[in-house]
Amino acid sequence: MSGIPHDHYTPGTGIERWLHSRLPIVGLIYATLMIPTPKNLNWMWIWGMILAFCLVMQIVTGIVLAMHYVPNVAQAFASIQHIDRNVNGGALLRDIHSNGGSLFFVAVYFHIFRGLYYGSYKAPREITWIIGILIYLAMMATAFMGYVLPWGQMSFWGATVITSLFSAIPLVGDPIVEWLWGGFAVGNPTLQRFYSLHYLLPFVIAALVAVHIWAFHTTGNSNPTGVEVRRDSLEIVRKDTVPFWPYFVIKDLFALSLILTIFAVFVFFMPDYLGHPDNYIEANPLVTPAHIVPEWYFLPFYAILRSITDDLWIIQILPINGKLGGVMAMFGSIAVLALVPWLDTSRVRSGRFRPRFKWWFWILVFDFLVLTWCGSQPAEPPYSDISLIATVYWFGYFLVILPLLGLTEKPLPQPETIEADFDAHYPPKSDPTPAE
Ligand code: HEM
Repeated sequence: MSGIPHDHYTPGTGIERWLHSRLPIVGLIYATLMIPTPKNLNWMWIWGMILAFCLVMQIVTGIVLAMHYVPNVAQAFASIQHIDRNVNGGALLRDIHSNGGSLFFVAVYFHIFRGLYYGSYKAPREITWIIGILIYLAMMATAFMGYVLPWGQMSFWGATVITSLFSAIPLVGDPIVEWLWGGFAVGNPTLQRFYSLHYLLPFVIAALVAVHIWAFHTTGNSNPTGVEVRRDSLEIVRKDTVPFWPYFVIKDLFALSLILTIFAVFVFFMPDYLGHPDNYIEANPLVTPAHIVPEWYFLPFYAILRSITDDLWIIQILPINGKLGGVMAMFGSIAVLALVPWLDTSRVRSGRFRPRFKWWFWILVFDFLVLTWCGSQPAEPPYSDISLIATVYWFGYFLVILPLLGLTEKPLPQPETIEADFDAHYPPKSDPTPAE
Protein backbone atom coordinates (compact mmCIF):
# COMPACT_ATOMS: atom_id res chain seq x y z
CA MET A 1 0.00 0.00 0.00
CA SER A 2 1.36 3.41 -0.82
CA GLY A 3 1.89 5.90 2.01
CA ILE A 4 -0.30 8.93 2.57
CA PRO A 5 0.80 11.83 0.36
CA HIS A 6 1.91 14.76 2.57
CA ASP A 7 2.69 18.40 2.14
CA HIS A 8 6.46 18.63 2.31
CA TYR A 9 8.62 21.01 4.26
CA THR A 10 10.84 23.15 2.08
CA PRO A 11 13.57 25.06 3.90
CA GLY A 12 13.17 28.76 3.09
CA THR A 13 16.11 30.70 4.50
CA GLY A 14 19.81 29.94 4.18
CA ILE A 15 20.11 28.78 7.80
CA GLU A 16 17.14 26.43 7.35
CA ARG A 17 18.77 24.92 4.25
CA TRP A 18 22.07 24.58 6.18
CA LEU A 19 20.34 22.67 8.99
CA HIS A 20 18.11 20.62 6.69
CA SER A 21 21.04 19.25 4.68
CA ARG A 22 22.74 18.14 7.93
CA LEU A 23 19.83 17.13 10.19
CA PRO A 24 16.32 17.24 8.69
CA ILE A 25 14.72 17.60 12.12
CA VAL A 26 12.47 20.56 11.24
CA GLY A 27 11.13 18.50 8.33
CA LEU A 28 10.39 15.63 10.72
CA ILE A 29 8.54 17.90 13.15
CA TYR A 30 6.67 19.47 10.23
CA ALA A 31 5.65 16.05 8.87
CA THR A 32 4.51 14.96 12.34
CA LEU A 33 2.46 18.07 13.04
CA MET A 34 1.00 18.45 9.57
CA ILE A 35 0.09 14.76 9.14
CA PRO A 36 -3.21 14.47 7.23
CA THR A 37 -5.75 13.39 9.87
CA PRO A 38 -9.26 12.08 9.05
CA LYS A 39 -11.57 15.05 9.50
CA ASN A 40 -14.36 12.97 11.06
CA LEU A 41 -12.44 11.92 14.23
CA ASN A 42 -14.75 12.13 17.26
CA TRP A 43 -14.02 12.76 20.95
CA MET A 44 -12.79 9.23 21.53
CA TRP A 45 -9.65 10.11 19.58
CA ILE A 46 -8.44 12.56 22.26
CA TRP A 47 -7.09 9.90 24.61
CA GLY A 48 -3.78 9.31 22.83
CA MET A 49 -2.81 12.92 23.46
CA ILE A 50 -4.05 12.75 27.07
CA LEU A 51 -1.85 9.66 27.52
CA ALA A 52 1.18 11.46 26.10
CA PHE A 53 0.50 14.33 28.51
CA CYS A 54 0.23 11.92 31.46
CA LEU A 55 3.53 10.29 30.56
CA VAL A 56 5.35 13.64 30.55
CA MET A 57 3.60 14.75 33.76
CA GLN A 58 4.57 11.50 35.55
CA ILE A 59 8.20 11.74 34.41
CA VAL A 60 8.57 15.39 35.43
CA THR A 61 6.91 15.03 38.86
CA GLY A 62 8.67 11.69 39.41
CA ILE A 63 12.11 13.13 38.78
CA VAL A 64 11.54 15.86 41.38
CA LEU A 65 10.11 13.38 43.90
CA ALA A 66 13.19 11.19 43.37
CA MET A 67 15.33 14.11 44.57
CA HIS A 68 13.79 13.72 48.05
CA TYR A 69 12.82 10.06 48.26
CA VAL A 70 15.12 7.51 49.99
CA PRO A 71 14.91 3.93 48.61
CA ASN A 72 15.79 2.13 51.83
CA VAL A 73 13.38 0.23 54.09
CA ALA A 74 14.62 2.15 57.14
CA GLN A 75 13.87 5.56 55.62
CA ALA A 76 11.44 5.18 52.69
CA PHE A 77 8.23 5.74 54.71
CA ALA A 78 9.78 8.66 56.62
CA SER A 79 11.07 10.23 53.40
CA ILE A 80 7.51 10.26 52.05
CA GLN A 81 6.37 12.02 55.23
CA HIS A 82 9.25 14.44 54.74
CA ILE A 83 8.10 15.15 51.15
CA ASP A 84 4.52 15.68 52.37
CA ARG A 85 5.44 17.95 55.28
CA ASN A 86 8.79 19.68 54.70
CA VAL A 87 9.56 19.86 51.00
CA ASN A 88 8.26 23.04 49.35
CA GLY A 89 5.29 21.99 47.20
CA GLY A 90 6.10 18.38 48.10
CA ALA A 91 2.58 17.31 49.07
CA LEU A 92 1.20 18.77 45.84
CA LEU A 93 3.89 17.08 43.81
CA ARG A 94 3.13 13.75 45.41
CA ASP A 95 -0.64 14.13 44.99
CA ILE A 96 -0.19 14.98 41.31
CA HIS A 97 2.05 11.94 40.81
CA SER A 98 -0.16 9.42 42.61
CA ASN A 99 -3.43 10.72 41.10
CA GLY A 100 -1.61 11.12 37.78
CA GLY A 101 -1.17 7.36 37.77
CA SER A 102 -4.95 7.00 38.00
CA LEU A 103 -5.57 9.50 35.21
CA PHE A 104 -3.06 7.60 33.07
CA PHE A 105 -5.06 4.38 33.53
CA VAL A 106 -8.46 6.08 33.00
CA ALA A 107 -7.06 7.36 29.69
CA VAL A 108 -5.55 4.04 28.67
CA TYR A 109 -8.81 2.17 29.34
CA PHE A 110 -10.79 4.66 27.22
CA HIS A 111 -8.09 4.40 24.53
CA ILE A 112 -8.16 0.58 24.51
CA PHE A 113 -11.97 0.32 24.53
CA ARG A 114 -12.13 2.95 21.75
CA GLY A 115 -9.81 0.67 19.75
CA LEU A 116 -12.00 -2.36 20.52
CA TYR A 117 -15.22 -0.61 19.45
CA TYR A 118 -13.94 0.98 16.26
CA GLY A 119 -11.77 -2.00 15.29
CA SER A 120 -8.66 0.24 15.23
CA TYR A 121 -6.56 -2.89 15.78
CA LYS A 122 -7.55 -4.41 12.42
CA ALA A 123 -5.18 -4.54 9.45
CA PRO A 124 -3.09 -2.58 8.71
CA ARG A 125 -2.78 -1.31 12.33
CA GLU A 126 -1.85 -4.57 14.10
CA ILE A 127 1.65 -3.33 14.95
CA THR A 128 0.25 -0.12 16.48
CA TRP A 129 -2.01 -2.32 18.61
CA ILE A 130 0.71 -4.77 19.67
CA ILE A 131 3.04 -1.92 20.64
CA GLY A 132 0.07 -0.52 22.59
CA ILE A 133 -0.25 -3.77 24.53
CA LEU A 134 3.48 -3.67 25.32
CA ILE A 135 3.04 -0.10 26.56
CA TYR A 136 0.12 -1.22 28.71
CA LEU A 137 2.16 -4.06 30.24
CA ALA A 138 5.03 -1.65 30.95
CA MET A 139 2.55 0.80 32.52
CA MET A 140 1.26 -1.93 34.83
CA ALA A 141 4.78 -2.94 35.86
CA THR A 142 5.70 0.70 36.49
CA ALA A 143 2.59 1.43 38.55
CA PHE A 144 2.94 -1.78 40.55
CA MET A 145 6.55 -1.01 41.49
CA GLY A 146 5.77 2.64 42.19
CA TYR A 147 3.12 1.64 44.72
CA VAL A 148 5.72 -0.29 46.69
CA LEU A 149 7.98 2.75 47.13
CA PRO A 150 6.09 4.56 49.97
CA TRP A 151 6.68 1.39 52.00
CA GLY A 152 3.26 1.41 53.64
CA GLN A 153 1.30 -1.69 54.65
CA MET A 154 -0.40 -2.03 51.22
CA SER A 155 2.95 -1.47 49.48
CA PHE A 156 4.53 -4.33 51.37
CA TRP A 157 1.64 -6.77 51.31
CA GLY A 158 0.63 -5.99 47.72
CA ALA A 159 4.22 -6.66 46.63
CA THR A 160 4.30 -9.87 48.67
CA VAL A 161 1.02 -11.24 47.25
CA ILE A 162 1.78 -10.39 43.62
CA THR A 163 5.42 -11.51 43.53
CA SER A 164 4.47 -14.75 45.36
CA LEU A 165 2.19 -15.61 42.43
CA PHE A 166 5.29 -16.70 40.52
CA SER A 167 5.73 -19.52 43.03
CA ALA A 168 2.79 -21.20 41.29
CA ILE A 169 5.04 -22.00 38.31
CA PRO A 170 6.02 -25.70 38.63
CA LEU A 171 9.64 -26.53 39.59
CA VAL A 172 11.21 -23.11 39.04
CA GLY A 173 8.54 -21.04 40.82
CA ASP A 174 10.21 -20.70 44.22
CA PRO A 175 13.70 -19.85 42.89
CA ILE A 176 12.10 -17.22 40.62
CA VAL A 177 10.37 -15.58 43.58
CA GLU A 178 13.60 -15.49 45.61
CA TRP A 179 15.38 -14.04 42.59
CA LEU A 180 12.69 -11.33 42.25
CA TRP A 181 12.89 -10.48 45.94
CA GLY A 182 16.68 -10.59 46.13
CA GLY A 183 16.24 -12.54 49.39
CA PHE A 184 13.79 -14.72 51.28
CA ALA A 185 11.08 -12.08 51.67
CA VAL A 186 10.15 -8.66 50.26
CA GLY A 187 12.84 -6.43 51.80
CA ASN A 188 15.50 -3.86 51.14
CA PRO A 189 16.92 -5.42 47.94
CA THR A 190 13.34 -5.64 46.59
CA LEU A 191 12.65 -1.99 47.37
CA GLN A 192 15.89 -0.84 45.74
CA ARG A 193 15.40 -2.79 42.52
CA PHE A 194 11.78 -1.67 42.29
CA TYR A 195 12.94 1.92 42.66
CA SER A 196 15.57 1.50 39.97
CA LEU A 197 13.06 -0.09 37.56
CA HIS A 198 10.30 2.37 38.43
CA TYR A 199 12.66 5.14 37.33
CA LEU A 200 13.77 3.32 34.18
CA LEU A 201 10.50 1.97 32.78
CA PRO A 202 8.81 5.32 31.94
CA PHE A 203 11.67 5.98 29.52
CA VAL A 204 11.15 2.56 27.97
CA ILE A 205 7.46 3.52 27.64
CA ALA A 206 8.48 6.80 26.00
CA ALA A 207 10.53 4.87 23.42
CA LEU A 208 7.61 2.50 22.80
CA VAL A 209 5.28 5.49 22.38
CA ALA A 210 7.62 6.87 19.70
CA VAL A 211 7.36 3.55 17.81
CA HIS A 212 3.56 3.49 18.40
CA ILE A 213 3.25 6.95 16.82
CA TRP A 214 5.61 6.00 14.01
CA ALA A 215 3.43 2.95 13.27
CA PHE A 216 0.12 4.79 13.05
CA HIS A 217 1.69 7.66 11.13
CA THR A 218 2.75 5.06 8.56
CA THR A 219 -0.76 3.64 8.15
CA GLY A 220 -2.58 6.87 8.97
CA ASN A 221 -5.18 7.11 11.75
CA SER A 222 -8.33 5.08 11.56
CA ASN A 223 -11.61 6.94 12.16
CA PRO A 224 -15.16 6.27 13.41
CA THR A 225 -16.36 4.93 10.04
CA GLY A 226 -13.38 2.60 9.66
CA VAL A 227 -13.28 3.63 5.97
CA GLU A 228 -9.71 4.41 4.88
CA VAL A 229 -8.48 7.81 3.67
CA ARG A 230 -8.28 7.85 -0.14
CA ARG A 231 -4.62 8.13 -1.06
CA ASP A 232 -4.62 8.66 -4.83
CA SER A 233 -3.17 12.18 -4.73
CA LEU A 234 -2.64 15.08 -2.36
CA GLU A 235 -5.81 16.72 -3.74
CA ILE A 236 -7.90 13.63 -2.93
CA VAL A 237 -6.29 13.20 0.50
CA ARG A 238 -7.30 16.78 1.32
CA LYS A 239 -10.97 15.90 0.76
CA ASP A 240 -10.89 13.33 3.58
CA THR A 241 -8.45 14.94 6.02
CA VAL A 242 -7.28 18.12 7.72
CA PRO A 243 -3.75 18.69 9.04
CA PHE A 244 -3.21 17.65 12.66
CA TRP A 245 -2.01 21.18 13.43
CA PRO A 246 -3.94 23.33 14.21
CA TYR A 247 -7.26 21.44 14.02
CA PHE A 248 -6.73 18.44 16.28
CA VAL A 249 -4.09 20.09 18.46
CA ILE A 250 -6.65 22.71 19.51
CA LYS A 251 -9.40 20.11 19.94
CA ASP A 252 -7.12 17.89 22.06
CA LEU A 253 -5.99 20.86 24.18
CA PHE A 254 -9.61 21.81 24.81
CA ALA A 255 -10.34 18.24 25.97
CA LEU A 256 -7.20 18.28 28.10
CA SER A 257 -8.29 21.49 29.84
CA LEU A 258 -11.65 19.91 30.80
CA ILE A 259 -10.01 16.72 32.01
CA LEU A 260 -7.43 18.64 34.02
CA THR A 261 -10.26 20.52 35.73
CA ILE A 262 -11.64 17.22 37.04
CA PHE A 263 -8.11 16.07 37.85
CA ALA A 264 -7.57 19.25 39.90
CA VAL A 265 -10.68 18.47 41.98
CA PHE A 266 -9.06 15.16 42.97
CA VAL A 267 -5.60 16.63 43.58
CA PHE A 268 -6.77 19.63 45.63
CA PHE A 269 -9.90 18.40 47.39
CA MET A 270 -9.67 14.60 47.66
CA PRO A 271 -6.06 13.56 47.03
CA ASP A 272 -6.37 10.31 49.00
CA TYR A 273 -9.77 9.28 47.67
CA LEU A 274 -8.35 6.66 45.30
CA GLY A 275 -5.67 5.46 47.73
CA HIS A 276 -5.91 3.05 50.63
CA PRO A 277 -5.70 4.32 54.24
CA ASP A 278 -3.49 1.35 55.24
CA ASN A 279 -0.70 2.82 53.16
CA TYR A 280 -0.35 5.56 55.75
CA ILE A 281 0.77 2.82 58.20
CA GLU A 282 4.43 1.89 57.83
CA ALA A 283 5.12 -1.58 56.37
CA ASN A 284 5.11 -4.29 59.02
CA PRO A 285 5.96 -7.86 57.93
CA LEU A 286 4.41 -9.19 61.16
CA VAL A 287 0.92 -7.69 60.71
CA THR A 288 -1.14 -8.72 57.67
CA PRO A 289 -3.94 -6.25 56.71
CA ALA A 290 -7.51 -7.65 56.83
CA HIS A 291 -8.01 -7.11 53.08
CA ILE A 292 -5.13 -6.78 50.65
CA VAL A 293 -6.38 -4.82 47.63
CA PRO A 294 -4.38 -3.40 44.75
CA GLU A 295 -4.92 0.03 43.20
CA TRP A 296 -8.29 0.34 41.41
CA TYR A 297 -6.79 -0.02 37.93
CA PHE A 298 -5.56 -3.55 38.68
CA LEU A 299 -8.85 -4.75 40.17
CA PRO A 300 -10.31 -6.40 37.01
CA PHE A 301 -7.21 -8.57 36.61
CA TYR A 302 -7.04 -9.24 40.34
CA ALA A 303 -10.65 -10.51 40.13
CA ILE A 304 -9.73 -12.80 37.21
CA LEU A 305 -6.74 -14.10 39.20
CA ARG A 306 -8.87 -14.94 42.23
CA SER A 307 -11.81 -16.35 40.25
CA ILE A 308 -9.92 -19.58 39.50
CA THR A 309 -9.86 -21.84 42.57
CA ASP A 310 -9.02 -25.47 43.38
CA ASP A 311 -12.67 -26.54 43.57
CA LEU A 312 -13.50 -25.73 39.91
CA TRP A 313 -14.11 -28.88 37.82
CA ILE A 314 -11.82 -27.60 35.09
CA ILE A 315 -8.96 -27.33 37.59
CA GLN A 316 -9.74 -30.80 38.94
CA ILE A 317 -9.38 -32.41 35.53
CA LEU A 318 -6.24 -30.44 34.58
CA PRO A 319 -2.78 -31.19 36.01
CA ILE A 320 -2.57 -27.73 37.64
CA ASN A 321 -3.78 -26.20 40.89
CA GLY A 322 -6.11 -23.22 41.32
CA LYS A 323 -3.28 -20.78 42.00
CA LEU A 324 -1.47 -21.59 38.77
CA GLY A 325 -4.81 -21.56 36.95
CA GLY A 326 -5.48 -18.06 38.30
CA VAL A 327 -2.08 -16.79 37.23
CA MET A 328 -2.55 -18.27 33.76
CA ALA A 329 -6.03 -16.73 33.50
CA MET A 330 -4.68 -13.33 34.55
CA PHE A 331 -1.90 -13.31 31.95
CA GLY A 332 -4.19 -15.00 29.42
CA SER A 333 -6.77 -12.21 29.78
CA ILE A 334 -4.19 -9.76 28.42
CA ALA A 335 -2.87 -12.24 25.84
CA VAL A 336 -6.34 -12.51 24.26
CA LEU A 337 -6.41 -8.73 24.07
CA ALA A 338 -3.11 -8.81 22.18
CA LEU A 339 -4.50 -11.39 19.74
CA VAL A 340 -7.69 -9.50 18.94
CA PRO A 341 -6.48 -8.35 15.46
CA TRP A 342 -6.52 -12.03 14.45
CA LEU A 343 -9.51 -13.16 16.50
CA ASP A 344 -11.90 -10.62 15.00
CA THR A 345 -12.96 -12.08 11.65
CA SER A 346 -15.27 -9.24 10.57
CA ARG A 347 -14.64 -7.62 7.19
CA VAL A 348 -16.15 -4.40 8.54
CA ARG A 349 -13.85 -2.46 10.84
CA SER A 350 -16.03 -0.06 12.81
CA GLY A 351 -18.57 -1.21 15.42
CA ARG A 352 -20.81 1.59 14.16
CA PHE A 353 -21.89 -0.64 11.26
CA ARG A 354 -22.08 -3.90 13.21
CA PRO A 355 -25.54 -4.11 14.82
CA ARG A 356 -25.00 -7.34 16.77
CA PHE A 357 -21.39 -6.65 17.69
CA LYS A 358 -22.51 -3.51 19.53
CA TRP A 359 -24.48 -5.52 22.06
CA TRP A 360 -21.63 -7.89 22.85
CA PHE A 361 -19.21 -4.98 23.05
CA TRP A 362 -21.28 -3.07 25.63
CA ILE A 363 -21.67 -6.27 27.64
CA LEU A 364 -17.85 -6.49 27.61
CA VAL A 365 -17.61 -2.94 28.99
CA PHE A 366 -20.12 -3.85 31.72
CA ASP A 367 -18.19 -7.08 32.35
CA PHE A 368 -14.99 -5.08 32.87
CA LEU A 369 -16.75 -2.84 35.41
CA VAL A 370 -18.18 -5.88 37.21
CA LEU A 371 -14.67 -7.39 37.39
CA THR A 372 -13.35 -4.11 38.81
CA TRP A 373 -16.00 -4.17 41.50
CA CYS A 374 -15.45 -7.88 42.29
CA GLY A 375 -11.71 -7.26 42.62
CA SER A 376 -12.39 -4.82 45.45
CA GLN A 377 -14.59 -7.32 47.37
CA PRO A 378 -13.52 -10.26 49.56
CA ALA A 379 -12.77 -13.53 47.72
CA GLU A 380 -15.92 -15.31 48.93
CA PRO A 381 -19.47 -15.98 47.64
CA PRO A 382 -21.28 -14.29 45.99
CA TYR A 383 -18.33 -12.18 44.70
CA SER A 384 -16.22 -15.21 43.75
CA ASP A 385 -19.13 -16.66 41.71
CA ILE A 386 -19.79 -13.34 39.98
CA SER A 387 -16.04 -13.00 39.21
CA LEU A 388 -16.03 -16.46 37.65
CA ILE A 389 -18.99 -15.64 35.36
CA ALA A 390 -17.35 -12.33 34.40
CA THR A 391 -14.02 -14.08 33.69
CA VAL A 392 -15.76 -16.63 31.46
CA TYR A 393 -17.42 -13.79 29.53
CA TRP A 394 -14.08 -11.98 29.08
CA PHE A 395 -12.52 -15.05 27.45
CA GLY A 396 -15.75 -16.00 25.65
CA TYR A 397 -15.93 -12.57 24.03
CA PHE A 398 -12.45 -12.76 22.52
CA LEU A 399 -12.16 -16.48 21.80
CA VAL A 400 -15.70 -17.40 20.72
CA ILE A 401 -17.99 -14.42 20.14
CA LEU A 402 -15.66 -12.22 18.06
CA PRO A 403 -14.51 -15.00 15.69
CA LEU A 404 -18.08 -16.27 15.12
CA LEU A 405 -19.75 -12.87 14.93
CA GLY A 406 -17.54 -11.78 12.06
CA LEU A 407 -18.67 -14.80 10.05
CA THR A 408 -22.39 -14.60 10.81
CA GLU A 409 -23.23 -10.91 11.20
CA LYS A 410 -24.76 -8.84 8.39
CA PRO A 411 -23.16 -5.39 8.59
CA LEU A 412 -24.97 -2.14 7.81
CA PRO A 413 -23.98 -0.16 4.70
CA GLN A 414 -20.89 2.03 5.24
CA PRO A 415 -20.32 5.46 3.73
CA GLU A 416 -18.25 5.42 0.54
CA THR A 417 -15.72 7.94 1.83
CA ILE A 418 -14.76 9.89 4.93
CA GLU A 419 -15.76 13.05 3.06
CA ALA A 420 -19.28 11.63 2.55
CA ASP A 421 -19.57 10.77 6.27
CA PHE A 422 -18.35 14.23 7.23
CA ASP A 423 -20.74 15.96 4.84
CA ALA A 424 -23.64 13.88 6.18
CA HIS A 425 -22.94 15.24 9.67
CA TYR A 426 -22.03 18.79 8.59
CA PRO A 427 -23.79 19.45 5.26
CA PRO A 428 -21.77 21.85 3.10
CA LYS A 429 -23.49 25.22 2.71
CA SER A 430 -25.14 25.15 -0.73
CA ASP A 431 -25.18 28.90 -1.32
CA PRO A 432 -22.21 30.46 0.46
CA THR A 433 -22.75 34.23 0.69
CA PRO A 434 -19.43 36.05 0.35
CA ALA A 435 -18.47 38.03 3.46
CA GLU A 436 -19.11 41.78 3.18
C1 HEM B 1 1.44 5.80 27.00
C2 HEM B 1 0.50 5.18 26.36
C3 HEM B 1 -0.03 5.52 25.00
C4 HEM B 1 0.12 6.69 24.29
C5 HEM B 1 0.87 7.96 24.69
C6 HEM B 1 -0.60 6.51 23.04
C7 HEM B 1 -0.70 7.47 22.05
C8 HEM B 1 -1.50 7.38 20.94
C9 HEM B 1 -1.84 8.46 20.06
C10 HEM B 1 -1.38 9.91 20.22
C11 HEM B 1 -2.67 7.96 19.10
C12 HEM B 1 -3.35 8.72 17.95
C13 HEM B 1 -4.57 9.47 18.46
C14 HEM B 1 -5.60 8.57 19.09
O1 HEM B 1 -6.07 7.65 18.45
O2 HEM B 1 -5.91 8.81 20.28
C15 HEM B 1 -2.81 6.54 19.32
C16 HEM B 1 -3.50 5.68 18.52
C17 HEM B 1 -3.67 4.34 18.76
N1 HEM B 1 -3.36 3.67 19.93
FE1 HEM B 1 -2.25 4.45 21.44
N2 HEM B 1 -1.17 5.26 23.01
C18 HEM B 1 -0.85 4.63 24.18
C19 HEM B 1 -1.25 3.36 24.56
C20 HEM B 1 -1.98 2.48 23.76
C21 HEM B 1 -2.44 1.19 24.17
C22 HEM B 1 -2.22 0.59 25.55
C23 HEM B 1 -3.11 0.65 23.09
C24 HEM B 1 -3.79 -0.69 22.95
C25 HEM B 1 -3.53 -1.75 23.55
C26 HEM B 1 -3.07 1.59 22.02
C27 HEM B 1 -3.62 1.39 20.77
C28 HEM B 1 -3.72 2.37 19.79
C29 HEM B 1 -4.29 2.17 18.47
C30 HEM B 1 -4.82 0.86 17.86
C31 HEM B 1 -4.24 3.40 17.82
C32 HEM B 1 -4.66 3.71 16.39
C33 HEM B 1 -5.98 4.37 16.43
C34 HEM B 1 -6.34 4.90 15.08
O3 HEM B 1 -5.54 4.81 14.17
O4 HEM B 1 -7.42 5.36 14.97
N3 HEM B 1 -2.40 2.71 22.46
N4 HEM B 1 -2.10 6.21 20.46
